[in-house]
Amino acid sequence: METLIKANNLSIKYPNTTEKIIDKTNFEIQDNEIFVLVGPSGCGKSTILQAVAGFIPADGELLMDGEKITEPDWNRGVVFQNSSLYPWLTVEKNIGFGLKARGFSKEKIQKRVSYLLDIIGLSEQRNTKTFELSGGMKQRVAIARVLANKSELLLMDEPFGALDAFTRFKMQKLILDIWAKEKTSILMITHDLNEAIRCSNKIAVMNSHDKKIVEIFNNQFQGIDAENIEDFEIEKKVDTFRSQILSLINS
Ligand SMILES: Nc1ncnc2c1ncn2[C@@H]1O[C@H](COP(=O)(O)OP(=O)(O)OP(=O)(O)O)[C@@H](O)[C@H]1O
Ligand SMILES: [Mg+2]
Repeated sequence: METLIKANNLSIKYPNTTEKIIDKTNFEIQDNEIFVLVGPSGCGKSTILQAVAGFIPADGELLMDGEKITEPDWNRGVVFQNSSLYPWLTVEKNIGFGLKARGFSKEKIQKRVSYLLDIIGLSEQRNTKTFELSGGMKQRVAIARVLANKSELLLMDEPFGALDAFTRFKMQKLILDIWAKEKTSILMITHDLNEAIRCSNKIAVMNSHDKKIVEIFNNQFQGIDAENIEDFEIEKKVDTFRSQILSLINS
């Protein structure tokens, strides 16, 4: 496996304040890995994601494919909790928007958009204007719009945070399916440990005072529905793992 993102002694402060939000943290994201970041509200998760996206500057080393991250790039696509779509454009036009802006041919765009519509299960809604969609559908379009660009890294900040439990569960499956098909790398933030356990290869944990990632776990339970485990032995293992993460979050 190759290293996609490397953060070495990464420190971040916002220009309008003197306080460091992140202080000398270290982590690596490998190619084709789902790296999930968890931690208490206000610990700096979104701040790390925004630095990786290139939205805010950082001190120390922050590299993608060995090159310093200095600004936003197509190669790093971002999905937020409430990603704003272009409400008056159709699903299809929203997904193809970035490709059109980059000058791809109509045929290329059509092909890629049709493929993504199929993956996200919205082929029938291709001509629907996005203001008419449900929250879960909108979020699927937002993910497809980012995927359209074939970014090497997908950055998702609580992408399902605004969705009901049932839709959220379906979206987790969608992410795992997309990940398997597109072989993309993902940095995702969630406050839902069951979501972290179901989706990730690695779980990075922050607490409220260290201003850094304090532990990175390999997750052996990817794909599991952590809320409904039938096998008692596995349930016990997942419970132990979840408690271990929780106690670090609260440390
Ligand atoms: N634009 C900004 N300017 C100054 N300070 C900021 C800015 N954005 C965030 N902060 C501060 O940085 C700290 C970390 O915020 P951040 O949004 O990264 O936390 P978080 O872990 O994502 O929290 P949550 O789980 O609530 O989303 C907070 O103290 C916050 O007030
Ligand atoms: Mg946040």
